[in-house]
Amino acid sequence: MSAPLLVVSNRLPVVIEQHDGQWCSRPGSGGLVTALTPVLRQRGGLWVGWPGASEQDGLDLDGMLSDAGAAAGFDFAAVKLSDDERDKFYYGFSNEIVWPLFHGLHTRCNFDPSFWEAYRAVNCKFARTIKENVRADDFIWVHDYHLMHVAKELREVGLRQKIGFFLHIPFPPSEIFLNMPWRFDVLQALLEFDVLGFQTQGYRRNFTQCISSVIPGISVRGRGRVVTTKTPRRKVRMGVFPISIDFDEFADQAASPETTARAHEVREEFANRKLMLGVDRLDYTKGIPERVKAFGDALDRYPELREKITLVQVVVPSRTAIHEYQDLKAEIEKLVSEVNGRHTVSGWVPIHYVFRSLDRTNLTALYRTADIMSVTPLRDGMNLVAKEYCACRMESDGVLILSEFAGTAATMHRGALLVNPHDRVGMADAVYYAVMMGKEEQRTRMRVLRQGVRRFDVFWWLDMFLQASSGDDVELAAPPEEYDLLAILPPESIARPVPARVPDPAS
Ligand code: ADP
Ligand code: F6P
Repeated sequence: MSAPLLVVSNRLPVVIEQHDGQWCSRPGSGGLVTALTPVLRQRGGLWVGWPGASEQDGLDLDGMLSDAGAAAGFDFAAVKLSDDERDKFYYGFSNEIVWPLFHGLHTRCNFDPSFWEAYRAVNCKFARTIKENVRADDFIWVHDYHLMHVAKELREVGLRQKIGFFLHIPFPPSEIFLNMPWRFDVLQALLEFDVLGFQTQGYRRNFTQCISSVIPGISVRGRGRVVTTKTPRRKVRMGVFPISIDFDEFADQAASPETTARAHEVREEFANRKLMLGVDRLDYTKGIPERVKAFGDALDRYPELREKITLVQVVVPSRTAIHEYQDLKAEIEKLVSEVNGRHTVSGWVPIHYVFRSLDRTNLTALYRTADIMSVTPLRDGMNLVAKEYCACRMESDGVLILSEFAGTAATMHRGALLVNPHDRVGMADAVYYAVMMGKEEQRTRMRVLRQGVRRFDVFWWLDMFLQASSGDDVELAAPPEEYDLLAILPPESIARPVPARVPDPAS
């Protein structure tokens, strides 16, 4: 299918913000932007979203966006939000209700009724911008949890063309979802799309259970792939499309002279030590405190690891206006200093903590240098960082420690060391086992991982979604069978033998 794309997400891939009184633009952070930018760059199209700033004196928003669009190679249409809309729709409903609820943390939710009003009003605003910009042959593709109401608003203004929706985050089990006061409205609104995409079978199963228990007269057929609603009678297709990255872009960047030079400097800095890397947005779903504690436990349990391994933990600032994110930052900093205080000796600091966004050269240099990558969220829709690490491992070595609760575990369980991030002993053992792992086992695992990421890259994901939207049964071409905690026994990679001794990490 070659219909032009009209992509809609809360954020545009650029963020306009003020620094020292000057307005400037920077690339947006997060998996959605990483995945969709190469898609739009390759296919062209229009991206509708919020630029992160509101209209104000001294800011030429349209001019800055048109420059940023020209540099990106596709067009932007901005949805401008007032400060009140930003606070109630983005910080409020999206990030104090849907984000925690969909990640299974309903006790963190702030079900303020004014947030719901703002959510609907802003979704309506997005719908108006889409209506103003859409052409008859465009495929409208709406992304993520901020915009679950957009198709309903578009139908209300009479738009009849096909609309797809992809949920980048988990869909929770029904007993969690049903805590939401506006559960019926949200599910009804989602059923106004023509195609709904989920990251894993488990998330689609959760959604199917919810609609079956909340919406009267619904029928689900085709092993959860087609829903028929009663009034009005219409069909909605539901697919599983694990999102990915532009493998070649990361692999090429990793092999570039600038990344090679930077990787060499990083290796020198950590000479004779294993480097374990964590790269996350500041978020309580990412399991950063749990990882830091487990790393401290590994040093306590296995004294042989001391002075032989360093954890580099990079955190990109995110949603820092929300109190919980500020508290999380303080908690991480406290835990890092506790572990460092307990173990630092002359010439070795166990944890290097970096709180800022890195450019691609520095990021890929870290991926290239890291002997171990730790991706251990408490829950995550996908977690592209795990795929980026594998794409950058040109020598097919390195160890991926991966949470069972990341969407990536569904397809990367074969090569990774799977862990339960709540199991401190298991996490500490995994660090030890990763340090111990010989090159042969590393290569066997990493080859499997790289093959998967290369084959099922973001362009595969795009094709599958577009084919599903045109009516094809794309799940016949789905990626390898999923790891599903509820459906199958844990794979062997969970039951790790504890090795007898630690080899020289420098070897
Ligand atoms: P999420 O979408 O929840 O943020 P993902 O792991 O899917 O989680 O995506 C995170 C994206 O943000 C990745 O593309 C990663 O490279 C990028 N990222 C994370 N931390 C940093 C950082 N400190 N500097 C630059 N990019 C980062
Ligand atoms: O991939 C999940 C995601 O929530 C995106 O939808 C979002 O843009 C990104 O992470 C970063 O979060 P934010 O837009 O709140 O900075």
